Amino acid sequence: MKQYDNVFIFDHPLIKHKVAILRDKRTGMKEFRELIEEITTIMTYESMRDVSLVPVQVETPLEVTTQYKVPEESIAIVPILRAGLGMVNGVHKVFPTAKVGHIGMYRDEETLEPQEYYCKLPDGIEHKTVLLVDPMLATGGSVCDALAALKKRGCKNIRFMCIIAAPEGVQKVAEAYPDIPVYVSTLDRQLNEHGYILPGLGDAGDRLFGTK
Ligand code: PRP
Ligand code: URA
Repeated sequence: MKQYDNVFIFDHPLIKHKVAILRDKRTGMKEFRELIEEITTIMTYESMRDVSLVPVQVETPLEVTTQYKVPEESIAIVPILRAGLGMVNGVHKVFPTAKVGHIGMYRDEETLEPQEYYCKLPDGIEHKTVLLVDPMLATGGSVCDALAALKKRGCKNIRFMCIIAAPEGVQKVAEAYPDIPVYVSTLDRQLNEHGYILPGLGDAGDRLFGTK
């Protein structure tokens, strides 16, 4: 796959370890959900390396010192429903008070075209750093539509985190939105004729919520 300046693919042994268990078809719903959360937490640390800090005065038992903190009200998490919901707790481990917006998308199973069915975002989202999350980046249709929805509502600082991506989807989002950093835990081989990622992990929403 072509290299893109805005795409960051993780090469972390702990992520490889957890993704290997995640993919296994014998991994049940509870463990699947826990792994999605753990991988998301690891990714959040990396994807927030350049987050803005503000100086604060802290009184230690010995003296007053200037320290630096992330203003948590400046962060919003936006999961793409449904499967993105599985990543919210993983980000909340790092930013427990970050507000959460929701964008509902489903892929039409025939055309693979995403359909938006819900969008509810926190007030003032246009001033926040938005972490858009979805475990799967397949054709790229869902994330491109979610990014369009966020931009339409004035969001300027958005980054996207996904766990498994197909090269086709990475290319689509990287080229359509060169200004959006895309953090991918694991780049897979290809899509199959039904738009599923290979080797992939199957349907993330169904595995998270036990719907099949
Ligand atoms: C999955 C996944 C992404 C989308 C990726 O959701 O969670 O949102 O597919 O595919 P794309 O890159 O080809 O658009 P799905 O539409 O299955 O809905 P769900 O989360 O409700 O299961
Ligand atoms: N959505 C999923 O949940 N899995 C895939 O492989 C592709 C899209």
